[in-house]
Amino acid sequence: MIQRILPRAFSGKASSFLRTATASQSTLAQPLQKDDTILPKMPPFDYTPPPYTGPSAEEILSKRQRYLSPAVFHFYKNPINLVEGKMQYLFDDKGRRYLDAFGGIATVCVGHCHPQVVDAIVNQTNRLQHSTILYLNPAIADFVEALASKFSGDLKVVYFTNSGTEANELALLMARLYTGCHDVISIRNGYHGNAAGTMGATAQSSYKFNVVQSGVHHAQNPDQYRGIFGSDGLKYARDVEEIVTYGTSGHVGAFISEAIQGVGGIMELAPGYLPAVYDTIRKAGGLCIADEVQSGFGRTGSHFWGFEAHGVMPDIVTMAKGIGNGIPLGAVITTPEIAKVLSYRSYFNTFGGNPVCTAAGLAVLRVIESENLQKNSFVVGSHLKQRLTSLKEKFDIIGDVRGRGLMLGVELVKDRQLKTPAKMEILHIMEQMKEMGVVIGKGGFFGNVFRITPPLCFTKADADFLVDVMDYSLSKL
Ligand SMILES: Cc1ncc(COP(=O)(O)O)c(C=O)c1O
Repeated sequence: MIQRILPRAFSGKASSFLRTATASQSTLAQPLQKDDTILPKMPPFDYTPPPYTGPSAEEILSKRQRYLSPAVFHFYKNPINLVEGKMQYLFDDKGRRYLDAFGGIATVCVGHCHPQVVDAIVNQTNRLQHSTILYLNPAIADFVEALASKFSGDLKVVYFTNSGTEANELALLMARLYTGCHDVISIRNGYHGNAAGTMGATAQSSYKFNVVQSGVHHAQNPDQYRGIFGSDGLKYARDVEEIVTYGTSGHVGAFISEAIQGVGGIMELAPGYLPAVYDTIRKAGGLCIADEVQSGFGRTGSHFWGFEAHGVMPDIVTMAKGIGNGIPLGAVITTPEIAKVLSYRSYFNTFGGNPVCTAAGLAVLRVIESENLQKNSFVVGSHLKQRLTSLKEKFDIIGDVRGRGLMLGVELVKDRQLKTPAKMEILHIMEQMKEMGVVIGKGGFFGNVFRITPPLCFTKADADFLVDVMDYSLSKL
């Protein structure tokens, strides 16, 4: 029985598992109840949102369907109408609370509506919002200094953008201008953005629109779970050598990769891969770009930047998403020498690094430090990973548990030998977990990997609740 394994996380008896919670009972997102089963209980949180008076979920959905691009999709059969967020929790229109196990990467690095970040944004908005170029403003100067201090070596010069896509487009442009070479190598199953250049570098068939990009080569993915060489990074790295030798003139512009593929299903590159590839690329005259849009800002716990765990030093690093805790902001950092290539022509970005966004960025860095969030990511993430790994012993459907810190993945398969992706099952479990108050992400090439990337303020009690809910949902599959 589930409560014998995890007694502390469960409350009393339950009834009506899938019943919609009423506003009065819902702020605790109490276990929904069905029979005599004892269900996991969400950790307490001292906040009750004011009653919601806006349009219903049905009205919102109907407007979305009518006016928004059909490309805008949503999770869940009955999508949640989220109207408030506080730290690691979300509240729907009925006042029901959810544990946010996904939003930490996409938006809120340090927690929903973190008061220090909100204050920084509001104060700066009250004083001045403007373009970055043409005039001076202290916000950008303070942030850029603090951000550069997070890097070692010669990585000192920053250019701000509004998104991760823009940051990667700029990184690729700089590498091509600097090396005078158009050829770029990226890894299959990676994701780098949705503009022409980054779409070309994104070698995920499900995310590609076949935008023609000459000179982009997709290398074998050093996938430790499904890859043919297992965890032998050096063997995968040979593919990059072969691309350089047989697919280019021998001269390469850039290599771009994530340290842990996020959209690709929390896939940590096999050990030894990046140092070998960086070596090959540099011998071919190319630059190495680390895409830290997901794995940066202490997310992986052991290090502030994901690439550090691989023992490499990139020439260019890109970041976005959590950098501004939900504010549109991206950045590219490189060496003074490489950065110079942009000064030969006029290159500007109207809002990249504007005062409001950079004020938010500085507040985020300060919160990560003052609240010791990188360490929290390490401690809570290690605990969570260990508990998820125990769950793997219990359920054959869990094929793999992977990742670092608070960037974890759980891959579901129908058969452990064949690794057949459990695509329908994951959707079902996701729905069940939502009903029990946990919002979790999903991704991977086959869409069968749970992505667990909560705000960095996630607690051990939150981690236990998440695992208990997953345990319960899997036991009912
Ligand atoms: C690793 C990585 N790079 C780049 C991007 C693109 O960022 P944005 O959506 O802000 O353009 C993403 C988005 O998911 C990402 O995961």
